[in-house]
Amino acid sequence: MLFDVYSKFDLTPEKASGCYLWDKNGTKYLDCYGGHGVISIGHNHPVWQAAIIDQISKISFYSNAVKIPCQEELADKLAKVSGYSDHNLFLVNSGAEANENALKLASFHTGRSKVIAFNGGFHGRTSGTMAISDYPKMKSPFNTPHDVQFFKLGDESVFEEIKKAQTAGVIIEGIQGIAGVEDPGVEFLLKLHDSCYESGTAFILDEVQSGFGRTGDFFAHQHAGIEADIITMAKGMGNGFPVGGLLIHPDIKAKKGLLGTTFGGSYLACKATIAVLDILEKESLCKNSKIQGEKIINQLAGLPAINKLKGRGLMIGLEFSKDSSSIRKKLLEANIITGSSSNPQILRILPPLIFGDQERHMFIENIISIVNKENEAVSVSK
Ligand SMILES: Cc1ncc(COP(=O)(O)O)c(C=O)c1O
Repeated sequence: MLFDVYSKFDLTPEKASGCYLWDKNGTKYLDCYGGHGVISIGHNHPVWQAAIIDQISKISFYSNAVKIPCQEELADKLAKVSGYSDHNLFLVNSGAEANENALKLASFHTGRSKVIAFNGGFHGRTSGTMAISDYPKMKSPFNTPHDVQFFKLGDESVFEEIKKAQTAGVIIEGIQGIAGVEDPGVEFLLKLHDSCYESGTAFILDEVQSGFGRTGDFFAHQHAGIEADIITMAKGMGNGFPVGGLLIHPDIKAKKGLLGTTFGGSYLACKATIAVLDILEKESLCKNSKIQGEKIINQLAGLPAINKLKGRGLMIGLEFSKDSSSIRKKLLEANIITGSSSNPQILRILPPLIFGDQERHMFIENIISIVNKENEAVSVSK
């Protein structure tokens, strides 16, 4: 028996390609959620598939006790594609592991232990990352003793706290995902960056969900024209192959044994990620994400049932005037998969970055039709 912790869709996919999934009956579904924002270049992209198959036919695993040249190849490629040409790469296996290591590095580097995090933020389920996440029901007593101070997103009093120079790191999502696609805003990010710089505090950008082209920029915070000391990434990085990583400012020095992992940086993870970066570039997927996201927002703006449209690129939150769960349910009945958020009014979409006109039309037409039918039902019952 499985340890039963997940609320699941009534859906059993058996095949996937591009933006679509097929269940055991051959029914086709449009994937507007990408398995929690993981599918970046599309399900089973042939280049990604070929890269993994080719590697598995040679050597699939050895630990970091040996030289693995594709790690260097990945670091170079990521430096070029992300624009972070001087940061160093440390490879791990998940978003939580990336953030846990980021907190540890910030603490090693500054000799301080306190971390500043933000309301609504989610950074993972390991001990430190759970402590800096604003989801009390997920926290065990074991997660609570860490030295963490939370601030509201946009609360300017955080700058005074940072300037006391007693904080190891400030961690913020490029755009908050689980909270319902909350954007910290350019000005707030700029001021956070400056306060961290002035006080020798590590500025950590969690781009686990909002990175790898999701928002139209390679990393969401690049929209604000800032650089972070540590950037964490995972979801879209491997297009479904489990991989995470940290980009680390060159002033934060590596030392043998400082960090480590058995599986991180495996041949397969590196090859999967290199393929993702190649396809992101070759198929101009950051640009596509930006264009399709703008079109979705323009087409849905003005729909009376929607209060607000949040986010950028293909990371969009649709805030309805009521609980959005019935709309998500009806979308699934129309064979369209979408996501929720911690705010029940906000429906979240994180489709593959290859999302095209055809997929957009299908999504928009169905949303409009569902919302119109719900409105008719309300007026009839009145
Ligand atoms: C912003 C953010 N950070 C960290 C995580 C944790 O990543 P993982 O589930 O790979 O540990 C998530 C997962 O949803 C996330 O959205």
